[in-house]
Amino acid sequence: MALKFPIFMDAQSTTPVDPRAVEAMLPYFTEKFGHPASRNHPFGWEAEGAVDAARGQIAKLIGARDPKEIVFTSGGTEAINLALKGVAEMYREKGNHIVTTIIEQRATLDVCKRLERQGVEVTYVPVQPDGLVDLETLRGAITDKTILISVMFANNEVGTIQDIAAIGKLAKAKGILFHTDATQAAGKVPVDVEAMGIDLLSCTAHLLYGPKGVGALYVRRKGPRVRIAPMIDGGGHERGMRSGTLPVPLIVGFGTAAELCGQAMPEESARLRALRDRLQDLILSNVDEAYLNGHPERRLPHNLNISFAYVEGESVLMGLNKESALSSGSACTSATLEPSYVIGALGASAELAHSSIRFSLHRFSTEEEVDHVGRRTIEVVKRLRDMSPLYELAKEGVDLKSIHWKAE
Ligand SMILES: Cc1ncc(COP(=O)(O)O)c(C=O)c1O
Repeated sequence: MALKFPIFMDAQSTTPVDPRAVEAMLPYFTEKFGHPASRNHPFGWEAEGAVDAARGQIAKLIGARDPKEIVFTSGGTEAINLALKGVAEMYREKGNHIVTTIIEQRATLDVCKRLERQGVEVTYVPVQPDGLVDLETLRGAITDKTILISVMFANNEVGTIQDIAAIGKLAKAKGILFHTDATQAAGKVPVDVEAMGIDLLSCTAHLLYGPKGVGALYVRRKGPRVRIAPMIDGGGHERGMRSGTLPVPLIVGFGTAAELCGQAMPEESARLRALRDRLQDLILSNVDEAYLNGHPERRLPHNLNISFAYVEGESVLMGLNKESALSSGSACTSATLEPSYVIGALGASAELAHSSIRFSLHRFSTEEEVDHVGRRTIEVVKRLRDMSPLYELAKEGVDLKSIHWKAE
């Protein structure tokens, strides 16, 4: 099949929407436009039925016992805000300490920073060089004031999957609530809130082939019954936890996408893992000083994150971005280019944190695309290194750390 450009390999920023999810949504923009809270006529009943069906589909994907445990939000960011702020406010009498990790996504880290300004204490535990949280370090961070542990299921940059069941067990033994940001994991790898002891879980439709603008927070109802203070007050929708008219078409798309992911998961993850490994082998066998970031096995099957020494990630992207959509871990903020804090947290040097590239595959990725992107990446990295005096010096055996650069 002929390649179609640009090639999308940035599926951890968002996924393409599955056409079957779009199909399911369409009637809810047109003839099925009712308000799900209109309890007294068929338009409302139809909308409510569709929302309840989607609730069931999402509950099934994450192993929730009761669809009522699913609270719809506008996305992952809002779900995380609701979980962390909602618990901090509701359990204030019990304690004021939260434990999280330094590699969480900004939605968690920025909420924690705000909570700290409001008097909540937050401990940010480090991770090991493979991106995994050490359970003993986590245990050691717990105090008698700890009310919540929040650890992401799978990391958005390096894809490392935490031992969620072990963390759930630890939280339960200590009588502490456990929230996980499963935005990157739900629909991609098995998630089971019951078996894994998860009390709160955030997820989003746009990372599992659904539409943007809708997500969900799972809130456990039994063993323990978790209570959270709402962040948005109003008509008392979503059992008072999140007021506002529900976006029925988006919710229908989310539910359909969740069901499709559940059905496709075993086959899809095996296919993507094989493609990802092909890409990894192609690149690592052709480029020297290229380093795989994150855990080599415990990672999302569609994720590949590599640092290329002596080149900047952004430069590689610039060399490729007319034809391929990838992502570098560095964040371009106003005038400065910040190295990836996630890669930095794994113990990499600032240079390597600056040089990471994330390849993320998806349901519609093909072998031809993988081969093309792999070959082009190799070419671009080699071209950039040919122009790099640092690479030349390193190849001549000069220890770059021994050089004293003269400031003008
Ligand atoms: C790990 C992680 N958490 C949270 C979010 C935020 O989700 P949303 O974009 O739905 O607000 C993202 C988005 O990419 C993410 O990767």
